[in-house]
Formats: sequence, structure tokens, C-alpha cells
Amino acid sequence: MRNDTPVPVVEIASTTSTPLQQVMDLLREHGPVIRRRLHGRDVLFVADPDLVAELCDEERFAKHVGPALENVRAFAEDGLFTAYNDEPNWARAHDVLMPAFALGSMRTYHPVMLRVARRLIRSWDAAETPVDVPEDMTRMTLDTIGLAGFGYDFASFARDEPHPFVQAMVRCLEWSMHRLGRRAGDDHDAEDAAFGEDAAYLASVVDDVITARTASGETGQDDLMGLMLGSDLDHANIRNQVITFLIAGHETTSGALAFALYHLVKHPGELRAVQREVDALWGDTDGPEPTFEEVGLLRRTRQVLNEALRLWPTAAAFSRHARVDTVLGGRIPMRAGDAATVVVPMLHRDAAVWGDNPELFDPSRFDPEAEAARPVHAYKPFGTGERACIGRQFALHEATMLLAMLVHRYRFADHDRYGLRVKETLTLKPDGFTLEISPRTERF
Ligand code: HEM
Repeated sequence: MRNDTPVPVVEIASTTSTPLQQVMDLLREHGPVIRRRLHGRDVLFVADPDLVAELCDEERFAKHVGPALENVRAFAEDGLFTAYNDEPNWARAHDVLMPAFALGSMRTYHPVMLRVARRLIRSWDAAETPVDVPEDMTRMTLDTIGLAGFGYDFASFARDEPHPFVQAMVRCLEWSMHRLGRRAGDDHDAEDAAFGEDAAYLASVVDDVITARTASGETGQDDLMGLMLGSDLDHANIRNQVITFLIAGHETTSGALAFALYHLVKHPGELRAVQREVDALWGDTDGPEPTFEEVGLLRRTRQVLNEALRLWPTAAAFSRHARVDTVLGGRIPMRAGDAATVVVPMLHRDAAVWGDNPELFDPSRFDPEAEAARPVHAYKPFGTGERACIGRQFALHEATMLLAMLVHRYRFADHDRYGLRVKETLTLKPDGFTLEISPRTERF
């Protein structure tokens, strides 16, 4: 695009139930930077890698808590994800919790992650019907963050329906998303009242989690709850952090796993490549006990997850605002405080960076040489800068181990020739994705 090309203003009448995919289509049609106008409000959406690289410059730009996150603040308040940059509780909580996410801490969570991975496997071994992939991944990731972070067991595999916490949380996220498309003056009292009940329920579950822990007297452990109870964070903030971690710590990881399985099933050659990798490690062992170190050896499996997060980064957008008056790309004036939203799936499909078939699922894009040759800000599934994802290593360790265990143990049948439908609840999931599974009998 020439440097002086004006940014197209694209007016739309309403959003859809998939607003992110609507924006992706607008960017496909009008180019990698647009101003979308909805009900008289403009949002600057960016997918151009050079502009995104500028937005990632921490000297000029910072995380923006835009309208979507403002809505999430209605139930997560000043938790880490939704805190304003200058809110004192952000830095306080960040300092308290950072040590719990250093790479070495993953060693501590590994046994819990393995224990919950086993629950999923037991449940799939016993399953008679096709399994609902996103639902079971969500059971697994919720139980993992509950146990690893807070010593609380959601026991999701013992329930036929998702845990009511998940149902309430999904409704809260949907409320946050749909609220963005509201027209001034319309009546939303009933939705808002239902949201209020769900938010109160989330808070009550979290209070139970905190009470269970304080009552147990085991406040000195160095998991997230132990760190917070041993700090000067107040009760309200601890509650906001727990809600934040229960949401941020499982929705996105479960989506990533579900997309990864979807791609593997659709690309048998890639499935064979990861099966080869896990077979080389675990051979014929029935029910291997992956060690912490082994998870680090699962390079191909990790590349599959990276590539799944390229095509469908499950937290698909993040926003940045200008710290001072500036001009983005030498042509888009921004006043201090003006914001732009990075549309990550479109950044991840830029042909100049990813080649002329960016829709193709190809984990070799994450071979070390290919990665080294790419611009640093071309791949951003975990956000950027000091407000980037604190749970990245946690998510990747958990997801890599589980994916490896699943491809080692099962054959997958795409019994209804699933066509991808991406469901949006602020995060992304393959909607209605089910698989028939059976034990693998032959190994490489
Ligand atoms: C922040 C993505 C897993 C906790 C973020 C952000 C992104 C992201 C894009 C930045 C948002 C922004 O700039 O507005 C993901 C993805 C995950 C994942 C794609 C899985 C594949 C996790 C896990 C945890 C977690 C497992 C916790 C155990 C957080 C928190 C923040 C955050 C607390 C806010 C950090 C801060 O602002 O200080 N994540 N996340 N995430 N994530 Fe994750």
C-alpha cells in the first residue's frame, strides 16, 4: 500500500454473531487497515505487519482497555487482564504472580496437568459416542487451572453438562461481546439482569474457592492462591484475579487444543508426523507418564499448536493506544489516547510474511530457520509487551503434553466430515466439532 493511501472508512449497519469474522472479511475486502463505523462509532482495525510492529513499540503505544475489555471489567474489574496500565493493582498483582509463571514453575504444575490429562483419557476410553472436542478440552483446561492455580477441583469429567461456572462465564463473555453491537436507546434490561445474576454467581463460586483454601489452613503454598493470600492484595482484588485466571487460564487453551485436533484430522500427513514424534518417545507404552523434560522434546507437537494459533489465535484481537500524539505508518495521525485494534488472524495471514497460501495449515512454518527469518512482530497470539500473556508457558506446556498423549493413544475418525464453523464468545472455538475415537493399534 502506498504511504499516502487514505484509510478506508467502512460503515456497517450491524454486527453479526461472529463480529471478529465480520471484521476479517472487511479487511480482506478493503485492505489491512480500515476504520469501521458502526452506529456512528469508529474503530481503527489493523492487520498490516509494519503498522502492527509500530503498535508493538512500547515507547509509543500501550495496552488499551477498549470497549470489549470495558465490558469484561463488569465482572473481572481490576484483574490482571482488564486492569488499566496505571491502576496500582496491576503492578502489585503482576509482581506477586510473575514468579508463578516463570518457566521453572511449570515443573511444579506438571504433575497436576498430567493428572487432569488422565481424567480426559479415562473419559475418552469409556466414551461410546463421538466425543465433543471443544467441550472436553474445556473440561480439561478448567480442571487444570482450578487445581494448579487454586487447589480447587471443578471435577468437570464427573458431570454430564459443563460445570455451571463455565456456562455462566460463557454467557458473561457473550454479553460482553454482544454489548459492543448495541444501538443507543434499545432496551437491554432483561439481558443486563441475566448478566448481573451470572456475574454474581461467578463471584460466589470464587468466594467458595477462596474460603475452601483459607479454611484448609494451607495458605502457604506457592501456587497462585498461596502467593496472593500471602501478599498485600485485598480480598476484592484476589477475587478479581481468581475470576480472571479461571477465564483467561482455560477458554483460550481449550480452543487452541480443539483447533489443533481439527487441523490434524484434516491433514493426515501432519497427524502422522506428530504420531511419529510421540512414538519415538513412548513407543508401545500404554498410558505413558510424560516427564516434564519430555514435553520440551515434543517439537513437532508444539509446532502444530503454534500453527493452529496462527490460523485461529483464540484471543483474536488486542488493542493499543498512543502514549503521545503520533503518526502511525507516517500517515495515520493519532492523538494521545487514540486506539487501534490488531486483528491477529489477519496479521497471521499476511501473504508478504506467510507466503502466497497463508490459509494452508503447515506446521513447518515454525521450523527454527523459518521462525528466525520472520519479522519479530509477525506472530502475536499472546499479545505484546509488558501486558502480553502471563500464562503463555503454562498454556503451551499443558496443551503440548495433552495433544501428544491424545495422538499417541487414539485414532480419530472425522465421522461427519466436519466443516469448520468458528464460534465466537470473545474467544474462538470450532463449533460443534466431534470426533469418533478408537485405540491406536499400530505404531510407527
Ligand atoms: C493476557 C492470549 C493462555 C492468563 C493475554 C493476552 C493475549 C492472551 C492475547 C493479551 C491481551 C491484551 O493485550 O489485551 C492467550 C492465549 C492463550 C492464553 C492464546 C492460550 C493458548 C493463558 C493462560 C493463562 C493466561 C493459561 C493463565 C494461567 C493471562 C493473563 C493475561 C493474559 C492474566 C493478562 C496479563 C496482563 O495484562 O498482565 N493472553 N492466553 N492466559 N493472559 Fe493469556
